[in-house]
Amino acid sequence: MTWLITGGAGYIGAHVVRALLEDGKRVVVLDDLSTGSADRLPAEVPLVTGSTLDGALVESAMREHGVTGVLHIAAKKQVGESVEQPLRYYHENVEGLRVVLAAAAATGVKSFLLSSSAAVYGMPDVELVTEETPCVPMSPYGETKRVGEWLVAATGRAHGMGTVSLRYFNVAGAATAELGDPAILNLVPMVFERLTKGQQPLVFGDDYPTPDGTCIRDYIHVADVASAHAAAVRRLESEGGEKTELVLNIGRGEGVSVRGILDVIGEVTGRDASGEVVARRPGDPARIVASAEAISKELGWEARYDVREMIGSAWAGWCLRHPEARA
Ligand code: WQD
Repeated sequence: MTWLITGGAGYIGAHVVRALLEDGKRVVVLDDLSTGSADRLPAEVPLVTGSTLDGALVESAMREHGVTGVLHIAAKKQVGESVEQPLRYYHENVEGLRVVLAAAAATGVKSFLLSSSAAVYGMPDVELVTEETPCVPMSPYGETKRVGEWLVAATGRAHGMGTVSLRYFNVAGAATAELGDPAILNLVPMVFERLTKGQQPLVFGDDYPTPDGTCIRDYIHVADVASAHAAAVRRLESEGGEKTELVLNIGRGEGVSVRGILDVIGEVTGRDASGEVVARRPGDPARIVASAEAISKELGWEARYDVREMIGSAWAGWCLRHPEARA
């Protein structure tokens, strides 16, 4: 089989490309390079540069490369931006997906995987979030991912495609320093940036109903996210894979607080990362931690890396891009 990976030149996508190549799969990447970069891809991987909204391009890429399965990772992913630009998010994340699905159906693709997100759950008031926990997305971003899951499942049923939607929790780390996350939009890189500038990291609220008062999340190494995709691909390629219809969390089932992350960052970097408490950030749930049972049962997948490995590898990537950080 040949797998088309949309968004394959991005932070998560490039890790997925690497995991599939290690598994001996043939891959081709479609990426508009808006946030991705061609130098994240090994030279042997064909790159089609263009948008998922360009149906003619997507379909011709599928035909030219004999694509039989799709991993649709390309999307806009900033919660705050989605509140300001809902039309753009629905256009790129829902219409972009619809276009790719239409091309997949037209060319007889048999397997389709969607990158989804814990953002579909909103603020669930449960210890561990299972795939049956009701979805009440709190942002247009989360809504586009939920709608996307419906669209993928319905298209799979109608056109005989096996489908998997993977709900990522808080992704961090890097498989190699070169593949590190260049964006400064999530906790770990935001802390690194402040430390590099000689500032204390910010803690958005320490009066939450959690043991240390800071928010708890389920952090997952990007290499584990990638190996979960490889496991899903093996399932979709297996006998009867075209009957697959799965929605699965990718998490570790272990909650870590903002303070817990700062402690590890302090140890890894050798800096004082005790943090400066500021006001809560609107819309942050106190706690969201995955149950990782379903993915273990369905795909036999387990996370391999802990928070220390996430932070250590993320720091190596940060220092490569910001050599002044080591000073
Ligand atoms: C983590 C925790 C902050 C920065 C978001 C999306 C989610 C998914 C992952 C795409 C929170 C706190 C942060 C800082 C802090 N994205 N924080 N100081 O909000 O859990 O999840 O990214 O699919 O859908 O919502 O991630 O990394 O922004 O924050 O205290 O300088 O760190 O308040 O509790 P979040 P995050």
